[in-house]
Amino acid sequence: MKHDSFSPLMGLGAALGTLLGLLSCLPVLGATAGLPGQVAPFVAMDERDVKAALALAKVGRGDRLIDLGSGDGRIVIAAAKHGAEALGIELDPSLVIKARRAAERAGVEKRAHFIEGDLFAQDLSGATVVTLYLFPDANLALRPKLLRELASGTRIVSNSFDLGDWKPDAHIKAASSGGLLLWIVPAQLGGAWCTARGERFRLAQKYQVLRLFDAPASLGISASWEGRIRGKELFSEGSEGTLSGRLEGDQLILQASGSSSVKATRC
Ligand SMILES: C[S@@+](CC[C@H](N)C(=O)[O-])C[C@H]1O[C@@H](n2cnc3c(N)ncnc32)[C@H](O)[C@@H]1O
Repeated sequence: MKHDSFSPLMGLGAALGTLLGLLSCLPVLGATAGLPGQVAPFVAMDERDVKAALALAKVGRGDRLIDLGSGDGRIVIAAAKHGAEALGIELDPSLVIKARRAAERAGVEKRAHFIEGDLFAQDLSGATVVTLYLFPDANLALRPKLLRELASGTRIVSNSFDLGDWKPDAHIKAASSGGLLLWIVPAQLGGAWCTARGERFRLAQKYQVLRLFDAPASLGISASWEGRIRGKELFSEGSEGTLSGRLEGDQLILQASGSSSVKATRC
């Protein structure tokens, strides 16, 4: 495996129906398929959808984007043009060469980097945005790695395919495929928490859905609550609006409407 230097980021499967679904929404299949370890063939994303994907993830200066399976480099190059540090991981050496040349032609080679290698071997920590255009089974195989390595608040955009039962935070129409899906990686808040007064309560979490059990008296809400988490922010859904909060460092700050805030740490 050949690694390009990329200091800013370095510290950083399919049923027939699924396959047919992919083929129907991917307009042009590239010539390269079937390299060992290749979990999707090369199909370049429509330029209108590249633009829409970057807008959906609000990519800009200060972002560190990784495109997993970067093809001809168009997402990486577009992100670099938006001021982001961008890295593409691509198994096919001929595509890596093509992408580097395209980055040079676009004058963004200092911010657009490419590694020839297996996307499953790439350390994702440090990324603020991850983009995917892979088969559904590859997305599913990647899911635990995404949840393990990405910091809360990191945006993930996938073209066409979901992440199984991890429901997206947003799903928009795409110009030439099955849509663009966005996930905001949630902070991991499940487990036992204690307030400064020593009151103990429990949070159960599945992806962005959070349930509070044994609500402490100081919080001023009924014994249980269910809401959502977006990055580090907790909120109630619908009209209930009972509880909001945020994770600050290792401190969880919760506030029920009409009550003062309560700080808790893990216990
Ligand atoms: C559908 S194309 C998407 C290309 C690009 N991300 C875009 O949206 O224009 C998928 C790409 O992933 C690459 N790929 C497939 N399996 C891979 C793996 N295990 N590691 C790295 N790249 C891989 C393929 O070679 C192909 O270029």
